[in-house]
Amino acid sequence: MSRPSTSDLADVLRIAHERSIDYLDSLPERPVFPRASFEDALAALAAPLPDEGEPANEVIDALARAGELAAVASSSPRYFGYVIGGTLPAAIAADWLTSAWDQNAGLWSATPAASAAEQAVAPWLLDLLGLPSTASVGFVTGCQMANFTCLAAARHAVLRRAGWNVETDGLQGAPRIRVVASAEAHVTIHGALKMLGLGTGAIVPVETDGEGRMIEAKLREALRGVDGPTIVCTQAGNVNTGSFDPIAGIVEAAHEKNAWVHVDGAFGLWAAVSTTRAHLVRGVALADSWATDAHKWLNVPYDSGIAIVAHPEEHFGAMSLKAEYLEKTATALREPLDWVPEFSRRARGFALWAGLRSLGRRGLTEMIDRCCDLAVLAAELLRKEPGVEILNDVVVNQTLIRFHGEDPSGDDRLTREVITRVQEDRVCWLSGTRWHDKEAMRFSVSNWSTTARDIEMTVESIVRCYREARGERR
Ligand SMILES: Cc1ncc(COP(=O)(O)O)c(C=O)c1O
Repeated sequence: MSRPSTSDLADVLRIAHERSIDYLDSLPERPVFPRASFEDALAALAAPLPDEGEPANEVIDALARAGELAAVASSSPRYFGYVIGGTLPAAIAADWLTSAWDQNAGLWSATPAASAAEQAVAPWLLDLLGLPSTASVGFVTGCQMANFTCLAAARHAVLRRAGWNVETDGLQGAPRIRVVASAEAHVTIHGALKMLGLGTGAIVPVETDGEGRMIEAKLREALRGVDGPTIVCTQAGNVNTGSFDPIAGIVEAAHEKNAWVHVDGAFGLWAAVSTTRAHLVRGVALADSWATDAHKWLNVPYDSGIAIVAHPEEHFGAMSLKAEYLEKTATALREPLDWVPEFSRRARGFALWAGLRSLGRRGLTEMIDRCCDLAVLAAELLRKEPGVEILNDVVVNQTLIRFHGEDPSGDDRLTREVITRVQEDRVCWLSGTRWHDKEAMRFSVSNWSTTARDIEMTVESIVRCYREARGERR
């Protein structure tokens, strides 16, 4: 195939545009889970790679057909699985521009535009989340990498205080770091510790209460048992219950021991903007680092995570790179690659900037409050059905549900069956989990476009599936 012409470009983008609009317009009515399977999608895509290139418009048309076939409508207003979030229209459009511009956001000299977008967004984020205006911000792929980046800064800081330079001398022979973490810490905290060479064996687990919150007295006890460089990992928003660790007390206890406090707030940190739930993050500003996502509750397209560190010099110390050919700005402007693990990367600041501008402060608050209120509504409606139990205190956007039958020993199986039936009913999509050794259904409301009607339709589907599953077991 020869070079694509300008007319090819217009044609191929027109096809992508039309197919995208068709898809996005269909979301409110579209079954959330596709009937097509992975095998169907593979059959449509897995032809031998041609020797000669094909016309771009035909390629994109084929991709659109095959991709849509097995795409989960995870930005549907009735997608309640995991904590995925939808996509704000302005953020999708900004993401299209990001692809068209194809900026490498790693270096200021490679793209003043992307660097400016990040630098413009960072103070908005700090202000909205109620974090210190002097904190440094890195734009990463997701909360896994945000946890990694923040904990790299923590590792740098606690070892520096112990007289050790981990960036030059590595970890061999270094003072041992202890990581005091909630027994409910998200698995990505474990992932970060593995990648940082600290290992999950460094964790001193702290007991949690019935909602999954770290028990402050147990934390104090754990801290009494550790000496030397210490990092405390706390959580704003448990992935199952949405509960929050008592961060103010944790920070106070940890700082008495000169420990670094990291907050994993993948979605929960956004409670800071709520008119009714901001108390859940009380004391959060006093921590040393924070990890959160924009692709979850802020509803910008995947991928977008944010690493924030209260001590820019520790953040910089852990992440910055030097090479002769890197034309870093002499003006000490923020060089994007000095704050993240990636070198070259996507310019995520544009979608963030557009998403936040389109919401405004009030719109963001309304979106967060609305999701929380809808999670409460789901719990209230489900509670009306005898045999349905809400397992958690619905403090933000997460509801945990368990289904009971005649014989309590069959409740795990019944709950799993209801989840499967609901998934097959295709009105909505949600997933399961284990909570305190019991099977449960997870219901996460994190999409800007979800309405009370969506919740009612979803609850009707859940109740119908529960009655059917229970009826068949009698
Ligand atoms: C509390 C918590 N931390 C970290 C993560 C990981 O986030 P990501 O998938 O963006 O890497 C999640 C994801 O659900 C989470 O809920």
